[in-house]
Amino acid sequence: MAHIVRLEPIGVEMEVNEGETVLHAAFRQGIMLMHGCKEGQCASCKSILLEGDMDLMKHSTFALPDYEREQDYILLCRTIPYSDLVIELLNYDEELLKLAIPVKSYPGQVAEITPLTHDIRRLVVALAPESGFRFFAGQYVDLTSGRHQVTRSYSMASTPQTPDRLEFLIKVYPGGAFSSLLDGDLKPGDPMTVTGPYGICCRRQGEGPVVLVGGGSGMAPLLSIVRDMAECRIDRPVRFFYGVRNVPDLFYLDEIATLSRRFRHFDFVPALSAWDGSAPWQGETGYVHEVVDRRLQRGEVDGADAYASGPPPLIDAVIPVLRMKGIDVDRIYFDKFFQASPIEPARDA
Ligand SMILES: Cc1cc2nc3c(=O)[nH]c(=O)nc-3n(C[C@H](O)[C@H](O)[C@H](O)COP(=O)(O)OP(=O)(O)OC[C@H]3O[C@@H](n4cnc5c(N)ncnc54)[C@H](O)[C@@H]3O)c2cc1C
Ligand code: FES
Repeated sequence: MAHIVRLEPIGVEMEVNEGETVLHAAFRQGIMLMHGCKEGQCASCKSILLEGDMDLMKHSTFALPDYEREQDYILLCRTIPYSDLVIELLNYDEELLKLAIPVKSYPGQVAEITPLTHDIRRLVVALAPESGFRFFAGQYVDLTSGRHQVTRSYSMASTPQTPDRLEFLIKVYPGGAFSSLLDGDLKPGDPMTVTGPYGICCRRQGEGPVVLVGGGSGMAPLLSIVRDMAECRIDRPVRFFYGVRNVPDLFYLDEIATLSRRFRHFDFVPALSAWDGSAPWQGETGYVHEVVDRRLQRGEVDGADAYASGPPPLIDAVIPVLRMKGIDVDRIYFDKFFQASPIEPARDA
């Protein structure tokens, strides 16, 4: 039996199937609500229950502390309706609500795995050309390895112009259930299911400057956005800040140099947070948010769209800096690369 969930203040009604979360039902029906981890860790989908009965599945108390739970705050990715509901969205993005693409699963297979650095791998997944998969530059999908039945989220580095050949940039963690498969277990031809698209850190229309900030494999959605702008001949001024630890962690510098020539104003600033002097370096050093603070003057990015991706501490550090530089909080889009396993023991509500 399905329940009707009304979302205020946008006035959208949707059906949620028995046992389904509100967020999942929205994805299925092409309604792109604010979200991040999709598993009760990040608070991006926090909303208020106005009417109805529901069950709140396991979530982190960091995302939803007890005192908020007592005030009818809920997490849409953890909410299973027991009756029709009325929910007030705390955050929503009208542009995305209109644009969203329904989330579906698509069978694919591993096409290529190439090392880019000592711990970053380029994975290419091929889908059937007639699969109908679509996404916006900057979005991510859930990849499920068919042989191992492990699912993790990864951002596309490729563009919507090649939806049947998806490129991912993945950092390998020793013992990581998915990422370590890239170092020997996974082979070209292996089945790989793609579920998506997800994510709100996708390229928006506009005319002002574009500020990109990322670290490590957080390069992926930013590269997708820049490649897409170049392919679509969108010549907005680009400020691209990219942080890694040391010189050997840098990759794709030649491609970024080539891409930069497609724009009238393109400033790429790599920064090393742990330069040890073993390789020569004349560029910026320090954490990437410090470099953004040093290099970006207040006023020069008025009307900008900013995109940030990478580990959660990087995003948390850079958002206040971008705001201090005058970028409107509603125009800062980000993807925190949360780990799939809980940061703290998840608990039942
Ligand atoms: C929206 C979103 C987009 C993402 N996009 C990308 C992407 O484009 N490229 C990419 O490489 N990753 C991305 N991630 C992270 C990715 O989904 C996995 O969490 C990551 O690859 C680790 O998965 P695993 O199965 O290898 O490790 P797991 O088996 O989940 O973890 C094993 C251990 O590895 C360590 N570990 C795992 N992840 C991290 C981490 N993030 N930071 C520090 N230590 C960690 C921890 O010690 C952990 O206990 C994204 C995550 C999200 C939520
Ligand atoms: S998407 Fe719901 S808590 Fe992260």
